[in-house]
Amino acid sequence: MSTAFSPIPRVHLRTSLSPPHPSPRHFPFARIRASLQESGPSIAVVGVTGAVGQEFLRVLSDRDFPYRSIKMLASKRSAGRSISFQDKDYLIEELTGDSFDGVDVALFSAGGSISKAFGPVAASKGVMVVDNSSAFRMDDGVPLVIPEVNPEALEGLKVGKGKGAIIANPNCSTIICLMAATPLHRHATVKRMVVSTYQAASGAGAAAMEELELQTREVLEGKPPTCNIFKEQYAFNLFSHNAPVLPNGYNEEEMKMVKETRKIWNDSNVKVTATCIRVPVMRAHAESVNLQFQNPLDEDKAKEILKNAPGVVVIDDRAANHFPTPLEVSNKDDVAVGRIRRDVSQDGNYGLDIFVCGDQIRKGAALNAVQIAEMLL
Ligand SMILES: NC(=O)c1ccc[n+]([C@@H]2O[C@H](COP(=O)([O-])OP(=O)(O)OC[C@H]3O[C@@H](n4cnc5c(N)ncnc54)[C@H](OP(=O)(O)O)[C@@H]3O)[C@@H](O)[C@H]2O)c1
Repeated sequence: MSTAFSPIPRVHLRTSLSPPHPSPRHFPFARIRASLQESGPSIAVVGVTGAVGQEFLRVLSDRDFPYRSIKMLASKRSAGRSISFQDKDYLIEELTGDSFDGVDVALFSAGGSISKAFGPVAASKGVMVVDNSSAFRMDDGVPLVIPEVNPEALEGLKVGKGKGAIIANPNCSTIICLMAATPLHRHATVKRMVVSTYQAASGAGAAAMEELELQTREVLEGKPPTCNIFKEQYAFNLFSHNAPVLPNGYNEEEMKMVKETRKIWNDSNVKVTATCIRVPVMRAHAESVNLQFQNPLDEDKAKEILKNAPGVVVIDDRAANHFPTPLEVSNKDDVAVGRIRRDVSQDGNYGLDIFVCGDQIRKGAALNAVQIAEMLL
């Protein structure tokens, strides 16, 4: 993994969205790709100007996702502007109920209220909706999917059967946590999980990233920081996650981790608690995860399991004190795990502490959704 800082992704309309990892498959197989595209689905990207929407385009391009047409949808504010994707210019269209006519797969990332208003409309028109918001995640009958964790939840769902559906992408912190915890859970059964998150600005969208950059400049210049997105100073500070606080004292982000883990693992008994914190990191979340197991699992076995887990890399160099960092995973597909150690507060090999980092715009949102879409083809 490269440690070079990846530039902050910005919403540059009319700029080329060249993938961070150009695929060598592009050129030798151009003709095969062209024919795959002709038979591919018609897709729509809802919220294409946002942090996740822009990442959708990069991921679709990186993975050579086949499509015969693509619609770029956003709000009225962006309608009529041009966006460049894979050497073609597209006009951004305003999202309306008619946007989904002739569409097979829609990737939604325009917020929960937009998903609630337009997701069912699209599904009723036979569209496979992969939704990044929390609008439908806990609904019965809506699969909540991490392809490496519970692909079986997508059984029977395929594009082209004339039937639409809504499939939910889990919360970004849940995805990053479960990418690492699930392989261990499969081996030793997690009884209890305690998570503390260190969440980046990117998780709150493009405007939050811009505000962190602006505030950093302002504070260094001795000016009062502009606080439009968050109500308090973010640069050179950290605070409890900005999600609303619930009557039980947890915030919504924390309770998403609790409830979504149970649904994804199909285990209503697993005990999960979380504390979610925003840190002034531009991109990629970090999480400290404490696991208590039903069956013994030692450090070495845990490392071996994680090294072989799909979508996971182990960065665990105790001698060099080198472990995962948000910078190292920014713009990367894999979730990195390190600090793998026996929890000394528990007897025997029934507890582990791990530290996980993942790019939540990528694996925590766009990549996971595109992987789901691939499984629907
Ligand atoms: N950021 C993450 O890491 C992350 C991770 C997982 C899930 N999510 C979820 O993904 C969604 C988007 O997040 P984001 O971070 O990409 O936010 P963002 O950067 O603020 O982008 C929001 C997008 O929604 C569009 N939009 C807003 N109002 C609209 C309307 N009335 N009609 C159509 N489009 C509209 C915006 O279009 P305009 O530019 O035209 O306003 C923009 O494209 C949210 O539900 C978020 O919870 C985000």
